[in-house]
Amino acid sequence: DWTSDVFIDASIADLKAKIGSDKVVMGLSGGVDSSVAATLIHRAIGDQLICVFVDNGLLRKNEFEEVLDSYKHMGLNVIGVDAKQKFYDALAGVTDPEGKRKAIGNAFIEVFDEESNKLEGVKWLGQGTIYPDVIESISVKGPSATIKSHHNVGGLPDFMKLSVVEPLNTLFKDEVREVGRALEIVEKIIGRHPFPGPGLGIRILGDVTAEKVKTLQEVDYIFIQGLKDSGLYDQVWQAGAMLLPIQSVGVMGDERTYEKVVALRAVGSVDGMTADWIHLPYEFLGKISNDIINKVKGVNRVVYDISSKPPATIEWE
Ligand code: XMP
Repeated sequence: DWTSDVFIDASIADLKAKIGSDKVVMGLSGGVDSSVAATLIHRAIGDQLICVFVDNGLLRKNEFEEVLDSYKHMGLNVIGVDAKQKFYDALAGVTDPEGKRKAIGNAFIEVFDEESNKLEGVKWLGQGTIYPDVIESISVKGPSATIKSHHNVGGLPDFMKLSVVEPLNTLFKDEVREVGRALEIVEKIIGRHPFPGPGLGIRILGDVTAEKVKTLQEVDYIFIQGLKDSGLYDQVWQAGAMLLPIQSVGVMGDERTYEKVVALRAVGSVDGMTADWIHLPYEFLGKISNDIINKVKGVNRVVYDISSKPPATIEWE
């Protein structure tokens, strides 16, 4: 039977044997998976692990600073890199969902490569890939039928000449959380909802700009903070907001407005492979909708996504 303690002991022994006295570089995302993977590798090889946390300009509001701080408290050896502009440049004019994933993935690889080239003697690349990422990327129908290209899977260009180490690639999300708790990672990180690597870039439908990111960060913040304040956050597997590429008519005072629409999504799931929309209380949805429309400039309408996966994926792109 699987237990987190058995998994951790075996994994640490395995990592030690595999890595020896080599150095490992690893990109952290702020999410549960990469945090747990990094902590596990850190347990095995200590400061031979060097982590890189990139601000891709597509994170949640305040996330970069807060997460960097948590990592430092956890004793991880982390380098924080502000690469916002590079990602916005790479995304300029790109509207196709897969095109965005590729642009973001490539920008990430460039930044990451630049950072790891500054380090000496690195032989390994650590990754927080979990089992569902592996299967969704390969897809049951073979590589040409990939549903969505998860940019953190197999995206390593040859020129980096690093071997990959993915200690969580046999685990489901709930198992990753169990392992994280057993490793005594703070609940603030373990209890986090999953967040896609391409971040808000795939929640802004159409082209991505710094201004749209700012708008969506404010909307997302009100929604997520609202879930936390109402004690609903932990009952939801994943939640977020999408900025839609359409405008709708509204009125404010005597004025006609023509502004953006946002869609809120909150789902229940075990592993992200299937998901049901959550029946959030109407009062809660009403309050969040009012808050968003009153506080976020440029948004005059909020809708709630009541689609399940399949067929609707969790992310809109
Ligand atoms: P979908 O939208 O396919 O998402 O139902 C399932 C889970 O995967 C996350 N997701 C991603 N994670 N890179 C990631 O690291 C990606 O490109 C990506 N696309 C989706 C999504 O947030 C959900 O948790």
